[in-house]
Formats: sequence, structure tokens, C-alpha cells
Amino acid sequence: MLEFTRIEEVRAAARAARAGGSRVGLVPTLGYLHEGHISLCAAARRECGFVVASIFVNPLQFAPTEDFDSYPRDLVRDLGMLRAAGVDAAFTPSIEEMYPEPMQSFVSLPELSRVLEGETRPTHFQGVATVVLKLLQIAQPDSIFFGQKDWQQTAVVRRMVHDLSVPVAVMVVPTVRESDGLALSSRNVHLDASARQRALRLFGALSAGRALLEAGERNAGVVARTMHGVLSEDPAVRPDYAAVVDPKDLSPLERVTGRVLLAVAAYVGGVRLIDNFVLDVSPGGVRELSPL
Ligand code: PAJ
Repeated sequence: MLEFTRIEEVRAAARAARAGGSRVGLVPTLGYLHEGHISLCAAARRECGFVVASIFVNPLQFAPTEDFDSYPRDLVRDLGMLRAAGVDAAFTPSIEEMYPEPMQSFVSLPELSRVLEGETRPTHFQGVATVVLKLLQIAQPDSIFFGQKDWQQTAVVRRMVHDLSVPVAVMVVPTVRESDGLALSSRNVHLDASARQRALRLFGALSAGRALLEAGERNAGVVARTMHGVLSEDPAVRPDYAAVVDPKDLSPLERVTGRVLLAVAAYVGGVRLIDNFVLDVSPGGVRELSPL
């Protein structure tokens, strides 16, 4: 596996691969990798001849009160995992390489960034959109891969790519879960044994929402309140939101028909966790949408 810390080096390697006829795939990450990240690498591996994975804890997307300093990091282990996943090139820039001067240019999507995650993290998606556009300019991939777990992030990136005519295919890969349903997340390492059990409330809330839809409930408010109720039944879980919205523009729904995003966020043992289901609700039944 090639390992690059410099923008010009990874750009040249990707350019050479493309000139040699390979499709280039980019998998951006914050590192502290787990099987969710690796499934993005595997999807990229299947579709692209040259796969670049980036590891960069992007300060722009963390508010001053958030966990930038305590965000888990283990570069040696991460590089081993990328190598095992058959990634061709790892890009691990320093902050100085990515932001040699205070940034003056930002990408913002005010409407998509205001709701759900944005209510608690109002500056987060500007940081995400800006670093993703920068990584796209650096590697100039044919496809970029994201996980469904951060659904709002995929909606923001898709819209940015559309609005700014960025020539890249945005690919979304299903959420990888533990066997009991907990979505894998780098932040799960901060959960102690009791919080780890309580964290199942997120999957439980989404499952309860889905069960209501399967039973024929179509009132979005009822579904949202039920999910919120499941989260708040445990006094040690602090719900942030439980929402039933349009998966594309994240606008609130009154009645559920067709595609729907069930999304939850909650604090468990001091750790903020998120999860979602994307469903297709039709008279014939409810099925999970395969995101790719
Ligand atoms: P990070 O949280 O490291 O996630 C990197 C990618 O892995 C994202 O696309 C995320 O959705 C995906 N991912 C995380 N957990 C997953 C799971 N359980 N199953 C499937 N995919 C999962 O998201 C970011 O980093 C950053 O915002 C980034 C896009 C790198 C920009 O800085």
C-alpha cells in the first residue's frame, strides 16, 4: 500500500492510476477504523481499480466544545487495516498540510445543515462539506464512498456535488452493525459496559418505529413520539432527537408514504450516538432501502 502525507503526492498517484485506465475510488475517514469503514473500502475495491482511503481528523467539523482532542486515534492500527482491506493508497495529511493558513473558503448548505444533527452541531456540516470538497479536489476520484450511518452527511454531500457540478459518483454503503444491532462507530470505544448495553436503545427505537409502520401506522408524529419514548424510557439515555423525515431533503413528514428516514440521536454515558433506518413504505409492506 502506498502511504502519502502530501497533497501533491496522492494527487499524482491518483492521476497516474486514472491515466492507466483505472477508476479511482475515495473513502474519506476520520480514522480509528472499524468494520464499517472497511465495508466502504470493500465496496470501493469492488468498483474501482485504484482505491484511496484518507484518514484525517478534520478540525473544521468539530465545534470548540466537541471531542476533537479526545477523538480516538491509532494510525498504525488503521494503516494495517487498510492494507488488509486491499486499499491501494492511504492519505494521512497533517492539519498543516490540509490547512496551512486559516481557511477563508467554506462550502455551506444552510438548509440541510440546520436540521437533525445541525440543531446540536450547527457548524458541523460546513466543516464536512468543505473538507470533502477539498479531498475531492485532491484525489479527483470517479467515485466517493460514504456510510448510511451518517445519512445526513450523505444528503449534504450529494446536494453539494449536484449544486457545484462536481464530477463524482456518490456511493452509499449500508450500516454495519454488531450482532445485537448497535451501529459500529469509532465513538463506541468511549462506552463502558453499562453504556454499551444502554446504547442498544437507538436500534430499539428505530425498530419500534419500523414495527409501527409495519402495523399500518402512517402518522409520522406518532412514529417519532414512539421512537423518542423508547429512548427516554431509560433515564440514563438522553434523547437528542427522534425524527421521521424525507430522506432526500430531510424535510419533516406528516404522513408516511414511500421513502422515509427514521433518524435518532442520543447521549449515552456522555457519548453522543446516532443511527437511522431508510425505509420504503408502500401498501405492500415496509422494506429497508438498499442505499448504493
Ligand atoms: P468517519 O466518522 O470516520 O466515517 C467515515 C465513513 O465511514 C463515513 O462515510 C461513515 O458514514 C462511515 N461509517 C461510519 N460508521 C459506519 C458503519 N457502522 N457502517 C457503515 N459505514 C460507517 O464521517 C466522517 O468520518 C467524516 O465526516 C468525513 C466524511 C471523513 C469527513 O471528515
